[in-house]
Amino acid sequence: MDVQDIKFKTYFFVINLIGILIFLFAFVKINWDMWYFYFFWVLLFTFIEMKPISLNIKGKYSLSFPLSLAVLLIYGTWFCVIVSGLAIVIADAIAKRGWQKILFNCSQFSISILIAGTVYSKLSPPTNELFAINEHIIPFVAAAVTDIVVNFLLVEIIISLSNRIPLYSVIKMDWEMEALFLFSLAPVGLLMVILYTSEPWSTVLIVPLLLLAHNGFENYLRLRKQARTTIELLADVVDRRDPYTASHSSRVADYAVKIGNEMGLPYEQVEDLGMAGRVHDLGKIAITNDILQKPGRLSDAELRLMKTHPETGYKILYPLDIYKDLLSYVLCHHERMDGRGYPRGLTDHLIPLGARILAVADSFDAMTSDRPYRNAMSGEEAISELVNNSGKQFDPEVVDAFLKVWEKEKQTRGEENK
Ligand SMILES: [Fe+2]
Repeated sequence: MDVQDIKFKTYFFVINLIGILIFLFAFVKINWDMWYFYFFWVLLFTFIEMKPISLNIKGKYSLSFPLSLAVLLIYGTWFCVIVSGLAIVIADAIAKRGWQKILFNCSQFSISILIAGTVYSKLSPPTNELFAINEHIIPFVAAAVTDIVVNFLLVEIIISLSNRIPLYSVIKMDWEMEALFLFSLAPVGLLMVILYTSEPWSTVLIVPLLLLAHNGFENYLRLRKQARTTIELLADVVDRRDPYTASHSSRVADYAVKIGNEMGLPYEQVEDLGMAGRVHDLGKIAITNDILQKPGRLSDAELRLMKTHPETGYKILYPLDIYKDLLSYVLCHHERMDGRGYPRGLTDHLIPLGARILAVADSFDAMTSDRPYRNAMSGEEAISELVNNSGKQFDPEVVDAFLKVWEKEKQTRGEENK
């Protein structure tokens, strides 16, 4: 067990211990005469919790946030801890999420609700009214922001520790999407409280609105995923048109991700490298088979046509929002440090880092694959080609990182063969 494992286990234990204590304390504090209220809210919460949305690759998020804000303001902190805790346990158990996830989810919710509830009660004016909008709006906003930030941080820390990714990278990647998601839902919680103050039963009218929001988010995410899958399938078709380059893009993506990780790049940039690797040669879709599959060397005219593929790929990907951060990687993956590359003849650090990484990954895979006019080089031969061209064709820092990746792979293969 290394230091990172110890950190992860300690964090997991401490958060769960605090969460369980809060939950048990809430059991003692609340008035159980109102059990039918609990039953109703737990049922509603569970229903919403069972419809999570996958915002990113790592987690699912439910629309229960405005519900928990409303319950917090109407019934108080302890009621909210019990209702949301029970709903999470039931929904996660039905989804067969495993006891560790259930325990952590329940604990981090209890902690964030307790802190948000404390902020709300400290800032609220002493008034008999449940919710006077002018007097309670600032405490409400403060409680909502506290709940979002605490919840977000507790989850991001465990993701960072379990995946061994720096915390700032995880936060940077998730913050934009989650903030948009949760802050857009906070006013729904406010609306539920306002409805409750006029007629308690009318709060349920919000449920169809939540389901509508759920469908909207899901459709948006599904479209993003479908766009990516379609583009990657097209890239695979390009790979398969040339029997010598089958699975080339997947291997380039794999090498690029490993180099990015070795260089300690932020998580989201490594993600972009993986996506860019998969589609870097997409522009070859516009190259005819007689050129793409030509068994000999290309003529000057054919070479000129072949060299249009980075720009064609760029143009295909340009309208798609999900590729906007990696367009320049695709466009510049054949640029060289000495300026003798294409399409623009850029030099040194004018070439985006992602493109310099793709160039090394792409060249290594091309050299170690069979071609119609030559047999594949061995890994060691290809490595010495990279080293010989370091500073001329390739970025020396990227080559160094790739050498370390290669050494690690060799060690792993050696251990597997033992
Ligand atoms: Fe290419």
